[in-house]
Amino acid sequence: MSILKIAIQKSGRLSDSSRKLFDECGIRISNGAGTLKVVAGNFPAEILLLRDDDIPQYVEQQVADIGIVGENIVLETRKEVDILEQLGFGGCRLSLAIPKEENYTGPDYFMNKRVATSYPALLSDYFRSRNIRAEIEELSGSVEIAPGIGLAEAICDIVSSGSTLLTNGLKEVETVMKSQAVIIANRNISGPKREILEKLLFRIRAVKNASENKYILLNAPESAVPEICKILPGMKSPTVLPLAEEGWCSLHSVVREDEFWERIDRLRAAGAEGILVIPIEKMIV
Ligand code: PRP
Ligand code: ZN
Repeated sequence: MSILKIAIQKSGRLSDSSRKLFDECGIRISNGAGTLKVVAGNFPAEILLLRDDDIPQYVEQQVADIGIVGENIVLETRKEVDILEQLGFGGCRLSLAIPKEENYTGPDYFMNKRVATSYPALLSDYFRSRNIRAEIEELSGSVEIAPGIGLAEAICDIVSSGSTLLTNGLKEVETVMKSQAVIIANRNISGPKREILEKLLFRIRAVKNASENKYILLNAPESAVPEICKILPGMKSPTVLPLAEEGWCSLHSVVREDEFWERIDRLRAAGAEGILVIPIEKMIV
């Protein structure tokens, strides 16, 4: 029987969210402490728990068929894999940072400086595109301490909350790229494995759509319905139901999370009352 091998980060910024995603897709992964390979309970998949930096390579070599990893690592490692889907979690940026007491003058600041990073390929692209000649000091981790120990004058690393920079007395001065978690896949997945992958992607998209949308219910006078329908496009169009009270209706629809507050203001202005907003668990479009 075919089984899809999925690589996720063993521990780190993406590991909890990756596990949560499988959970929301109805795929059970047991928590065998210390094990690096877990067979899913109710889905033909095997989960490999790896260092995130190694995931693109393992997917290229088909040690794993697919993987969940930061876009930053995929672009840095330049492995031959396909990016199938952005997952909407693990948001961060690859940034340049300098000691907080330094006066930053713009990208030319880095001219002839030593910059420590675990992202030498992305950083040298960035410097090259701006004609900045700097010395790149490659480190595999704990980059933020490099200026403090005299190893470099600046760093380029992943910033998420910014607390690591803060505790090391650094300030962020330029964004090299923005990143989030993505699904990558080996380029030769076919046959039954491809079918399992499609099934998984279908579930992941349903979870992702749900998290990006809200279900909305509201009451409005009949006269306001045409205007409200324009504000609430919905998946097709809003459901409109009569209320027991003459001349009033209830409208049901779906709004995108990122447009939500702006729509609410417009809905209220159009006459909507008793607005309820409810999370959606799965959304199949
Ligand atoms: C990054 C980076 C910092 C931390 C920044 O590590 O190296 O250590 O996250 O996060 P903060 O801004 O919230 O403090 P990453 O998650 O890429 O893990 P890894 O380098 O250990 O693989
Ligand atoms: Zn890592």
